[in-house]
Amino acid sequence: MTETRMSESGIVADLVLAGGTVVTGTTRFRADVAIRDGLIAAVGAPGTLPAAREAVDVSGRYLLPGAIDVHVHFREPGYTHKEDWRTGSAAAAMGGTTTVFEMPNTHPPTRSVTELRRKQAAAEKSHVDYGLYGLLAEDNIDELPGLIEGGVNAFKCFMGNTFGNLPSPSTGAMLEGFEIIAPSGLRISLHAETASIMAWRQARLVAAGRNDPLAHVAARPAIVAVEAVARAAELAGWTGARVHVLHISSAAELRPLAEAKARGVDITGETCPCYLLLDTGDYERLGSVIRVNPPVREAADAEAIRAALLSGVIDMIATDHAPHTPEEKRKAVIWEADCGFPGVETQMPLMLNEVAKGRMSLEHYVRISAENPARAFGLWPAKGRLEAGAEADIAVVDMDRSETIRAEALHSRGRITPFEGVTVTGVPVHTLVRGRFVQRDRRLVPETSGWGRQVTAIQRMPPAQPRNQDSTLAACLAQGRGLR
Ligand code: NCD
Ligand code: ZN
Repeated sequence: MTETRMSESGIVADLVLAGGTVVTGTTRFRADVAIRDGLIAAVGAPGTLPAAREAVDVSGRYLLPGAIDVHVHFREPGYTHKEDWRTGSAAAAMGGTTTVFEMPNTHPPTRSVTELRRKQAAAEKSHVDYGLYGLLAEDNIDELPGLIEGGVNAFKCFMGNTFGNLPSPSTGAMLEGFEIIAPSGLRISLHAETASIMAWRQARLVAAGRNDPLAHVAARPAIVAVEAVARAAELAGWTGARVHVLHISSAAELRPLAEAKARGVDITGETCPCYLLLDTGDYERLGSVIRVNPPVREAADAEAIRAALLSGVIDMIATDHAPHTPEEKRKAVIWEADCGFPGVETQMPLMLNEVAKGRMSLEHYVRISAENPARAFGLWPAKGRLEAGAEADIAVVDMDRSETIRAEALHSRGRITPFEGVTVTGVPVHTLVRGRFVQRDRRLVPETSGWGRQVTAIQRMPPAQPRNQDSTLAACLAQGRGLR
């Protein structure tokens, strides 16, 4: 095919992005990027690449690997008045995000292979590539092998209650779940807040008549996260399961995370823009709009999280894109407001604004937004880097362009954001998924709905090293049989 094209017209690439600056996790350099058949065919000195069907001038702009957001809720099936795969993935495309990992707290939840097939059918509308999470809950342990076989990309374990009210697994169910999942090599992402502490405290606060936004923080003090991270890290170390701590919100939970890393547990962590950029000082201004699980905490927490993101204790930035309608968010009684807000469209502009302010280098941003999530979730080296042979998932960024965030302009159905009115400098002006523009000049390319595909086929992680195998439930049951 390619050879025919070459001999007929002399064209060797589908597209060349010319005159930009390529940014990697460690450096940046002026280069043209040639794309062929969805892959990066060559990265070369400006003007040295062969002809292409189309050349796009990106001089003055930066070329970043598209963001890989391992934490989004696209709500379909079941809650499509909040979001669906078309609107959620459009928001991703507009935000320079080229791969999302989507969460299982839909209705029905992604608890067995039957629901996984339904989720895959819904996801066919996606503008961007995607991984799909399977659920690990109290009542679906027997479904885990089927989910693994059926092609989930990772698992999600809600250790604490949140939107969807899925039953948090007991430590016993978690241990068996980790034992079953560990040999697959798939990572288990944790909503690491301990349910029983939160339920107890919330009941006390409600009984005392507390309905104000800060009561939400009081119900979920950082110890809920500390206890959950420490407990999950022990189970991960014991079983060899890979785990990932979602939405890190506190300084205190960094200790069990760093300790587990130091003793060799395969554990990664993410934070989200709200935990870096907002703090308890914003509750009065934002009211119930700021309600999210886990909650936004003190300024000192935000500072510690920022330092951990720079030092590598926290590996990546994700969004926990959790859209709800304005009516569901705006409530006088804090306990009645749905938790979370959209984020997949605003993450890159908000973080590039941090770069523009000199708080982080563009190279470091590439590490936390693309390289590290690609490595942790088995997509590297196909995704997460701009080098020959990789998939051409690219965010073209204009670091001189300013925009003001407006909920009404978001592509998500969740048109309400705590970042309303924030002016940012640094915006993705084109987004390409496997060589195709899904966003061009700040406009969605609507006909790319359906271009996204599940990342399963790209790469599977090698199995984790199973530990303590003789004590797994399966081994114990088999021993019993052997005696008879
Ligand atoms: C998320 C949601 O709405 O699905 N809400 C939230 O406050 N973060 C669920 C979650 O990730 O906990
Ligand atoms: Zn969560």
